[in-house]
Amino acid sequence: MTAQGTQPVRHFLSLLDLTPDELRALIRRASELKRSLRAGEIHEPLKNQTLGMIFEKSSTRTRISFEAGITQLGGHALFLSSRDTQLGRGEPIEDSARVISRMVDCVMIRTFEHAKVELFAAHSRVPVINALTDLLHPCQLLADMQTYLEHRGDIAGKTVTWVGDGNNMCHSYINAARQFDFRLNIACPVGHEPNAAILQAAGDRCQVIRDPLDAASGADLVVTDVWASMGQEEEQRQRAVTFANYQVNDQLMAQAQPNALFMHCLPAHRGEEVTASVIDRPDSVVWDEAENRMHSQKALLEMLLRR
Ligand code: CP
Ligand code: NVA
Repeated sequence: MTAQGTQPVRHFLSLLDLTPDELRALIRRASELKRSLRAGEIHEPLKNQTLGMIFEKSSTRTRISFEAGITQLGGHALFLSSRDTQLGRGEPIEDSARVISRMVDCVMIRTFEHAKVELFAAHSRVPVINALTDLLHPCQLLADMQTYLEHRGDIAGKTVTWVGDGNNMCHSYINAARQFDFRLNIACPVGHEPNAAILQAAGDRCQVIRDPLDAASGADLVVTDVWASMGQEEEQRQRAVTFANYQVNDQLMAQAQPNALFMHCLPAHRGEEVTASVIDRPDSVVWDEAENRMHSQKALLEMLLRR
């Protein structure tokens, strides 16, 4: 039986699908799971459970972290590329959701339109996890928030600066500012602002500050992402010109707090959105951030699949 008994099915399509308390508990649990894995302890609460992983875009971290994570929890992952399934040949999302969710215990989806994951979730008997859409990338924020907690403690009341495109990562940072209660300065070029409704819903804790140096002033955490996201490859050249001033470099980091962290969801383009001098600093936390994708998603799977 793959359906979740009589409990309503919970999805994770956005950080707003969990309460602030649940999110905090989840990232603390992620650190616990990390310690327990390193201590060599076996923890297999998801034995015989299957995670279907639908990818319509490329991935290194997301695929590996979910696949390794569910294996460690005693379960199994199925990699489903749209190239090899009927999804790529136009089978309706609703039908795919009905069928796939009768056979697996959880579905993870990486795709373009956010409406697709919402439609899938609406017809799924099992939890659906958003593993990146054009609008949001909530799983990455679980890892980022865990990483901040592990290195600097509680992020509540801190100042975070987002530098670059008002994209899926930026939107998830805005949602994180609401849920984890931090201030967010967003430095983006004209025409590349985040979604107005998402920004407005966050109230005055999030503001657009055009000048990246001003935006980084006093920051406890500086974050950036590629200038052209997946699906925007044709805009890459134009974007390199538009975003030229929106680079995280030593001058920008000098505006932030002396112990400010730098994060990047990766993959990174050195010399574009970030210089090697920043991302490759000996104390760079981006590698912990990448590893924490696995620990935080294990905590998420444990929570969503609890019986
Ligand atoms: N950060 C992230 O989601 O990486 P991948 O695209 O490699 O999964
Ligand atoms: N904004 C990037 C994030 C990649 C993890 C993209 O959507 O391509």
